[in-house]
Amino acid sequence: MKLIKLLFLMVCTILLSACGQTYENVQTIESPDGKLKLMFSLKDGNPEYSIQKNGKQVLLPSKMGFIFEGNDSLFLKLKIININKNSKNETWKQVWGEEVEVRNNYNELKVGLKEKEGKLRKLNIIFRVFNDGVGFRYEIPSQKKLQKINIQDELTEFVLAKNDSAWAIPAYKGVYYEELWTKKAVNDLDTVTTPITIETKDRKYILLHEAGLIDYAKMNLYPITGTTTLKTDLTPWSDGMKVYSKSPMVTPWRTIVLADDLNQLVNSRLMLNLNEPSKIKDTSWIKPIKYVGIWWGMHMDKYTWAQGPKHGATTENVKKYIDFASENDIQGVLVEGWNYGWDGDWVENGDKFSFTKTYPDFDIEKISTYAKNKNIKLIGHHETGGATINYERQLDSAFAFYQKHGVNLVKTGYVNPLLDKKERHSSQYGVRHYQKVIETAAKYGIMVDVHEPIMPTGLQRTYPNLMTHEGVRGQEYDAWSSDGGNPPEHTCIIPFTRGLAGPMDFTPGTFNFSNTSHPGTRVQTTIAKQLALYIVIYSPLQMASDLPENYIGNPAFEFIKLVPVNWAKTIILDGEIGDYVVTARKDKYSNSWFVGAITDEKSRNLTIKFNFLDVGKKYELKIYKDAQDSDWKTNPTAYVIEKLQVDSNSELELFLAKGGGAALFLQEL
Ligand code: NOJ
Repeated sequence: MKLIKLLFLMVCTILLSACGQTYENVQTIESPDGKLKLMFSLKDGNPEYSIQKNGKQVLLPSKMGFIFEGNDSLFLKLKIININKNSKNETWKQVWGEEVEVRNNYNELKVGLKEKEGKLRKLNIIFRVFNDGVGFRYEIPSQKKLQKINIQDELTEFVLAKNDSAWAIPAYKGVYYEELWTKKAVNDLDTVTTPITIETKDRKYILLHEAGLIDYAKMNLYPITGTTTLKTDLTPWSDGMKVYSKSPMVTPWRTIVLADDLNQLVNSRLMLNLNEPSKIKDTSWIKPIKYVGIWWGMHMDKYTWAQGPKHGATTENVKKYIDFASENDIQGVLVEGWNYGWDGDWVENGDKFSFTKTYPDFDIEKISTYAKNKNIKLIGHHETGGATINYERQLDSAFAFYQKHGVNLVKTGYVNPLLDKKERHSSQYGVRHYQKVIETAAKYGIMVDVHEPIMPTGLQRTYPNLMTHEGVRGQEYDAWSSDGGNPPEHTCIIPFTRGLAGPMDFTPGTFNFSNTSHPGTRVQTTIAKQLALYIVIYSPLQMASDLPENYIGNPAFEFIKLVPVNWAKTIILDGEIGDYVVTARKDKYSNSWFVGAITDEKSRNLTIKFNFLDVGKKYELKIYKDAQDSDWKTNPTAYVIEKLQVDSNSELELFLAKGGGAALFLQEL
């Protein structure tokens, strides 16, 4: 008997080593705290994943994979050929951000797959499971049978356990992500761009987005009719192909943040953790600042970008802005319309832009010396009209020109529905271009603020000179939008939707609410809400966007002067997406805290608890708040400034008017 057993065991061992190792078709991995569980499986040779949180299914089995050019459904008949598990628990420091220290703690599962028949091609899928969500990406290793990789479709799905509501904007109906965010049941969504923020019935949040979008197409999602399945739709090239690549290659990370409340949602650093560490070694020149600019005047038709009697970027005018900035603790002055290319239809003729030839009434030598002497940073501008070929041709000389004149921060712009009249901004074509600009700017020691961008995906970790993006319906819409401007609820939505993709150059700061150039359109807030936006909307570059003359003599301007742009810590104290938000942030360089509270079109009373303050310490609280009769429509400029003493046990009753808000400054005594 014993001999038979022994012989059986020997045969098995020989067979196993001849066939190579075999794996179960189901693999699981948990988050470090054990609350999230990711399951990977092969169903009839097709890869799928699902996610559980606290034992409850959040994502049901969701498909993965690709279809390559020529309807080549690769990876239909796969087997697992190896499994690697790994873990990381580290803390890294942000150059700038909403908090300084970021914990990067995950368990990783890398599944090696190979086709069972045909070309025997290989694919790896890497999952990282954090306490606050999951990221995964595809990796196609270098292999003879798969060199050229033209992706016709990415099959990644997110099959939601329930048909909850999602905040989203359409992917293709608007331009530059400058849409109003709306909430709809998942299965009623259009094709939407990410991020999308899903609110469950029990007020938990699921954020779907991506991280590290490099040399690939932007991910959009659409619901498969009659289901809760969101399927990937990559922004195509004009010829319909989604991605042109070759092996070896990796895709961006697909990210799923699972948050129990708004504070967890805003404080998730999963997207940043999935990006590579900084490639810029010396980051000492990268600094968040506040700025004013020759800008709102153009949007309000006071000035023009083009030459003529109302030309804004004149030497004399820029000097006035520099004086104003230096007298008011504002560190930068943005100048638009200084270079040739604006005369005529610049959107149509973007290829006429020169990035080195100045208009005759703009003396860059004089201006840069003047700015330097006053310790003010000039912020350059590269509007391209979407003509990236023209821009790329001049890219090095354009940044070298600014570098020579001491300009180390540039705002870029791509106003045109298509790049080079052909390709979408969020296509692989666009992604490649924006990447080239960030890298070239870094080479010249220049920070960038991208308008009409691709949706940010956390690349600022790798390139900390990528400061902020527009990609949002900013305050400029309140100057000229034919629908009257941004409704009061807009800013109560974007911190929990677009803002989760990265900093927003929203450009708050309006103090004058009369709009004579575009009657019927206006900023739909009170002054106190404008102040609160500097805290509620995160950006390492914040503009005081109104004309200097509207600030002079107004005591509320004191708040804009003192509010920081770089933070040690962020807490969402209270809020409801679309209704109201209360955000507290601690200054990176002092013990001071700032709180911003904003509401939608409804007035409301809130209680703020100061239990985030250091226990046992006293703070002076300065409040800039709506007056009892403030109202965004009828009385936007009324506000009250109050001083109190508080500690960590204090509570404050706060009234927010319709479209109103409050800005609080807490200084340790
Ligand atoms: C649109 C940008 O968002 C705005 O800030 C800029 O002034 C104009 N384009 C001109 O470049």
